[in-house]
Formats: sequence, structure tokens, C-alpha cells
Amino acid sequence: MPESMRGMHRTHRCTEVSEKNIGETVTVMGWASRRRNIGALIFVDLRDRSGILQLLFDKNDLSKEDFDKAYGIRNEYVLAATGVIERRSAAVNENLATGSIELRVKELRVLAESDTPPFPIEEDINTREELRLQYRFLDLRRPDMQRNLIMRSKIANLTRQFMVNEGFIEVETPLLTKSTPEGARDYLVPSRVHPGCFYALPQSPQLFKQLLMVAGYDRYFQIARCFRDEDLRADRQPDFTQIDIECSFVDEEDVMNINERLLAHVFKEALGIDIPLPIQRMPYREAMDRFGSDKPDIRFGMELKNISDIVKDCGFGVFADAVKAGGSVRGINIKGQGHMPRKKIDALVEAAKGIGAKGLAYIAVGCGENGADKSSFAKFMTDEEISAIKNALEAEPEDLLVFAADKDSLVFNVLGALRLQMADELGLTKKDDFRFLWITQFPLLEWSEEEGRYTAMHHPFTMPMEEDIPLLDTDPGKVRARAYDITLNGNEIGGGSIRIHQSDLQEKMFEVLGFTKEQAHDRFGFLLDAFRYGVPPHGGLAYGLDRVAMLMCKADSIRDVIAFPKNKDASCLMTNAPDRVDKGQLRELHLSVVEEEA
Ligand code: AMO
Ligand code: AMP
Repeated sequence: MPESMRGMHRTHRCTEVSEKNIGETVTVMGWASRRRNIGALIFVDLRDRSGILQLLFDKNDLSKEDFDKAYGIRNEYVLAATGVIERRSAAVNENLATGSIELRVKELRVLAESDTPPFPIEEDINTREELRLQYRFLDLRRPDMQRNLIMRSKIANLTRQFMVNEGFIEVETPLLTKSTPEGARDYLVPSRVHPGCFYALPQSPQLFKQLLMVAGYDRYFQIARCFRDEDLRADRQPDFTQIDIECSFVDEEDVMNINERLLAHVFKEALGIDIPLPIQRMPYREAMDRFGSDKPDIRFGMELKNISDIVKDCGFGVFADAVKAGGSVRGINIKGQGHMPRKKIDALVEAAKGIGAKGLAYIAVGCGENGADKSSFAKFMTDEEISAIKNALEAEPEDLLVFAADKDSLVFNVLGALRLQMADELGLTKKDDFRFLWITQFPLLEWSEEEGRYTAMHHPFTMPMEEDIPLLDTDPGKVRARAYDITLNGNEIGGGSIRIHQSDLQEKMFEVLGFTKEQAHDRFGFLLDAFRYGVPPHGGLAYGLDRVAMLMCKADSIRDVIAFPKNKDASCLMTNAPDRVDKGQLRELHLSVVEEEA
């Protein structure tokens, strides 16, 4: 029954016609999304990627055969229709761009039929994500997904346009390569030609872009696919896309300046939003102290306050002991929430425990009997101590103050997370309020308990701050890096650094990271070699394009801005990847699979 479109040419997308076209003959093609019959009239909403146009089939205009054909239209049939644009006879639909017109069809062809889809092809459906991912080709037909992918394409194109205008050169770097250390596990690809040898898929183009600077390209960019085998979250995918940038003869000011103008360009052109420049900057230490996070959401306050000095000698052992053990006691003020029901406070304590806290102490200011405070620990404290604490948190009646006492890292984690949870519950954040923030002066290294050595917080090619270089020998944990992250509304959307360009410093860095000379040369020999042939000072940054697109589309997950994403187990539910391969293929690759015992 499907008909050919021979002789018919699409003249417009569905919403490319308007009242201006009234009286004109046009041909549109798309998917049937709704059909209603009213006596001798049939109405069909025709959908393409631009939107919806109402088709009108009038028994009096059409042959019996064509009218019957229209009667047989089901959802998601592919139609071609030629007719005349008219003003709507019935009620105008204010919600549609084409709500005041319709197409009076003279000729209809059904180009393809469709089974009933497993979920409606509409905006904001409640369908399980697994089903959406399994039928991704239908999910992508939904208007909100189409808007997201169109926005993503726009962001990539605006980026290209800006970078090229600024004199950046786009260079592709290999996908079959050697391991680049960005802190995640590598995806490996076995070599057929070299038995027992493996390529690694790049975690980023980091080393290649640095070598392009050695090669004199000066300003490089690439919209680059990256691969990381790590635990997945809503803002992570095993294969994702970076906007990757590197420039020579620059310091951090230059890199930040270019990137601020790039962001301003993209936001203005794609969303019509003016980003006030320069973007605020904050050292890592301050971000942790004030927000308990290295990617603080600054759309709201609720900042952490350190009350360690007030409570270090108090009678509440939990607090005093934490400070004596080298930790701290900090709190946040959840404004106006003092009357939070006991059940909800308990849930908050449980949430804190879920993150590793031993407990969560609180004061509900003026919410006890006769206007006294209600508190889980005030009975152990003097009135002076309590009032100093309340002062420190700028407490007013009805406020809920919550405190965590532990080692710093845990206190930051707990209060940083509670702060976000409460802001979410209290509706303090809006998705169209875009607040950028640079985080600077990151620690160069972090101690890995697991590996019993320092690891690079950004990557091993990041330049230490000059005044901290002597500490590499005495107290490596204290060395700060010339690294910066760009954050947006509590998300790390990009990160970068000024790189080491001196071979002795790079070798020193490998040494601090616990590599022997042989190991360093084995893994990064080509980089160290390059360092002998004139390396310009250089630095750069990479954005997670998926994260930028997610925020600009106001989506909840990066999966909603990726055409064919993986689920939380790193599987593609549509193609069923990863999958087993046949024995012949394995043999060719010199591989055999060790079956895990059940
Ligand atoms: P970094 O590792 O910080 O830096 O990565 C840069 C940005 O990439 C995004 N990102 C991810 N997005 C989705 N899924 C993932 N699994 C994922 N991992 C990272 C984040 C992050 O900010 N070579 C350096 C950059 C440089 O120094 O120039 C690098 O890759 O938004
Ligand atoms: P306890 O004396 O253990 O009953 O604790 C008294 C109060 O202090 C309770 O509200 C606990 O949740 C809280 N608490 C216990 N440990 C901590 C901690 N490490 N930080 C903050 N509050 C805590």
C-alpha cells in the first residue's frame, strides 16, 4: 500500500507556512500525529521537525479513494499532502505556530505505514527511560528531543564560527592511540597486527594538542570524541564530546579571556542571553570553605560557616573532639525552615549519614516551647556558645541551623550536598538563571589512599604555581596548580590549565607521581622527546559539550542531549552494545575470553 512520492516535491516544512501563504498551493511531508473525524471532514496533525500543520480532508474536495485513504491514516504514518493553505474554519489553536491556518488537501499519498509506537510521540512523556532508549529512533522523533539536538548542533556551530574567527585551527587527533592519563580507566582496542598489543581510545586529546603547540600551530581547537571507563552518573557518559582548546604564548588570563568571549557569543546567539563579563573567579580553597564544593552553585546563598573556634573547648564532645582531631565543625542556615517537621529533619540526618556523616546536629531557632530554641545539642553548651554560633550563622527566629563535625573533606561533602538538596526542595534555583564561576588555584596533587601515592588532580602536565614549586620537594600536597575550572550552576562544564613546558619540571612531576624514569619514558617518551625541541609556553581548556548542551537545553541529564547515549551500565539498549563476538574474530585478535564463574 505505501505509495511513491514520484512527481511530488516538498515545498515547505510544516511550520514554514503562515498566514502569508493563504491561497497558495503547497506540498508538505511528515508524520501523522493525530486524526479526528467530524462528519464529512477529517483533520490530521502533520508533524515534521519544524512543528505541526493541520491537514483538512473534505469529502467534497476528494475522490472517494483519497477520502478513504485519509480515513485509514494512523499515528506515525508518513504522508505527503498537496493542497491550498486556508484560514482555519474552526477554533484557532493559540499553542501552534500554524494555529490560525490549515492545509485543505487536494492530493494525499501515504508514503509509509507504521506500527503503533510503544509510547506517544509527544513532549514530556512519562515513559521509562529504558523503553525510550530501546526505541531511540522514535524517542528522537519527539519535539523536545528534536529541539535539544538542534540546539546542540547550534552550540557546536557557534563554537566553530567563533574559534575560526579568532584564528584557531581545527585539527583532528587519532582515536586509536596510546593511553592518556585523565584519571579514568581506558577503553582498549586489541591490535590484530601486533599480537598482545592494544590501542587505547583517548580520554581526551591532551597530549596531541600539546604536541600541536610544539609543532607551532599556535591556536588549536577540536570538537573531540573522548572515552572514559568510569562510574556513570547523570552528567557522565563513557563516550562524550569535548570542545577542546589549546593556545601558545598565553597565561591563564589569556585563556580565560578567550573562553569568556566564546561563552558570551554562544549564549547570546543561541539563547539571546547576555553573560556579564568578566566571569567571577574564586580560588578553590574559598569555594570549599564557603560552599563545600569545587563547583559551587552560586544561584543561592546558604553558605557554610566555620564554627570550630567557638566550639573547640565546648562541652559537646562530638564538636570539641572533631576540632581536636584536626577536623572542623561547620554549619549552614536553612532560612525559615525551623518548623520543619521532625520526620523531615530525621530524613535530613539520614541523608547526611548516607554521605558518610556520623550525625547532623541542629538548632531550630525559636521553634521550641515558649519561643525557646529546639536543638539536638544545646544542652551540652553554654548560652554564650549558642549565641556565638547563632551570630556566626546570622540566625533569625524560624531558621534551621544544621552542623556537621568531622574531618574537613567529609564536612564539606555533607554540607555541600545538603545545601544543594535543600535549595532543590525549597525551589531556590531556576534553570534559566545562568551563573558562571571560574574556580582557580586548585591543588596540584591529591593523595590516593588506594594507590598509596599522589595523583594529579587535573593531569600530570599541569604547571604548578611558581611560588609553590619549592614545596614539590617538601610538602607536595600543598602545591597549587595553574589550573582552572569553569562552572555553571553547580556543574563543572570545563577545565584546563597552563602546562609544564620545561622537561626538567615535567620529569620532576612524574617523579612526584611515583613513576620511575623508565616508566615515565615508556608511557610518555614521545612527550619528553618533544620537550627537547623547543616547546612554547602553552595552556588550554576543554568543555564537556554534552554538559553545556544539557544546561542550555534545561535538560535533567546529558542523555537528553546525546542522540544515542548509553544507559547507567554503559550499554546501548537499542543496538545491544557491548555484545559478544564470534570465536573467529577473537582468534584473529589473538584473544580468548576467560569465562567468569557464575
Ligand atoms: P577534564 O578531564 O576536566 O579535562 O575534562 C574536561 C571536561 O569534560 C567533561 N567531561 C565529561 N563529560 C561527560 N562525560 C564524561 N565522562 C566526562 N568527563 C569529563 C567535563 C569536564 O570539565 N584534557 C583536559 C582539558 C585540558 O586540560 O585542557 C581534560 O580532559 O565537563
Ligand atoms: P549523640 O550524642 O550521638 O546522640 O548526638 C547528639 C546530636 O549530635 C545528634 O543530633 C546527632 O545527630 C549529632 N551528631 C552526632 N555526630 C555528629 C557529627 N559528627 N557532626 C554533627 N552532628 C553530630
